[in-house]
Amino acid sequence: MNERYVGILGIGSYVPEQIVTNFELEKKMDTSDKWIVERTGISERRVIKKGQATSDLATKAAEKALQDAGVTAEELDLIIVGTVTPDMVFPSVACLVQQNIKAINAAAFDLTAVCSGFIYGVATGSSFIKTGTYKKVLVIGAESLSTITNWTDRNTAILFGDGAGAVVLGEVDPGYGILGMDLGAEGNGGHLLMVPAGGSRTPTTKETIEQGLHFIHMDGNEVFKFAIKIMGETVKKALENAKLLAKDITYLVPHQANLRIIQSAAKRLGIPLERVIINVDKYGNTSAASIPIALDEGVKSGRIKQGDIIAIVGFGGGLTWGSGIIRWGK
Ligand code: ACO
Repeated sequence: MNERYVGILGIGSYVPEQIVTNFELEKKMDTSDKWIVERTGISERRVIKKGQATSDLATKAAEKALQDAGVTAEELDLIIVGTVTPDMVFPSVACLVQQNIKAINAAAFDLTAVCSGFIYGVATGSSFIKTGTYKKVLVIGAESLSTITNWTDRNTAILFGDGAGAVVLGEVDPGYGILGMDLGAEGNGGHLLMVPAGGSRTPTTKETIEQGLHFIHMDGNEVFKFAIKIMGETVKKALENAKLLAKDITYLVPHQANLRIIQSAAKRLGIPLERVIINVDKYGNTSAASIPIALDEGVKSGRIKQGDIIAIVGFGGGLTWGSGIIRWGK
């Protein structure tokens, strides 16, 4: 049997309209635009308005990806959504999207790998196609991190934003598509980045809310060190799987958490910043959505072209990480 090559047939993204600038945050907490820009590269972020939820963002991104791919919702066999901010505990965002876009033939589930969620989703979805189980898989990264952010905590509030990005995966011509991937996890670092309450261990109570345990808690310095180390390492492993070298990468599309982390990863891989897709300044860290949003911008702006070698790489809570090497095109 011939090997199947799996790639991205279409891509789309959506960010909510409401913008929160650093200057607005200055009014709410002891911080400054200067500090935030210097330490993170972030100038503003998008935030959902009351009544909006993650599935609304995911649906809009999905519709754009389907249109871009020229694939109908009925053709989809599976929908995977990477998210840690579902509309509710269940049903999953994937099932809500399935209903919204009328993907009546698709199975649907959410996947939790925090900021690595999109890459984990691509790895999972592409495996179903490689084995011949499914033909078309929709993978979405979608988050409304603003709903689990403590807007009075300067350690976290400055970093996060909302958005969604989606891709349609399917079979592509030999030599194109996903050439190699790497996934990993380090559960013993889970405490460095977590939402402590609201799950089965500590269900939500008046006390947990008073203590702010339903918000993101993070040891920023430790996560920073972990990110710097893991980004380069995982890309090197994915490159090995793809039988390529760092110099072969046309564009690096990293998780948009902090400009300094992105710069360090690029430096470690020997990739000049002109060949890195960066939009952290506009959207902040949108967790599972950040890589597909950046990839979409790279493609729609005309920077990423047919035949380019793209490295996607992310890290996040869990701790988790993942990367993929893709030859762009169908
Ligand atoms: N505004 C002004 N001053 C601040 C702020 C702020 N928002 N936050 C911290 N400071 C102060 C600190 O109190 C400290 O002051 P001191 O020197 O008087 O003690 C000083 O600035 C430096 O603080 P650091 O924490 O050392 O700042 P650092 O340069 O490490 O930046 C940051 C902090 C931005 C959080 C960085 O560590 C980081 O980006 N870490 C990674 C976070 C991340 O990527 N998380 C998401 C992972 S993905 C996911 O799964 C969601």
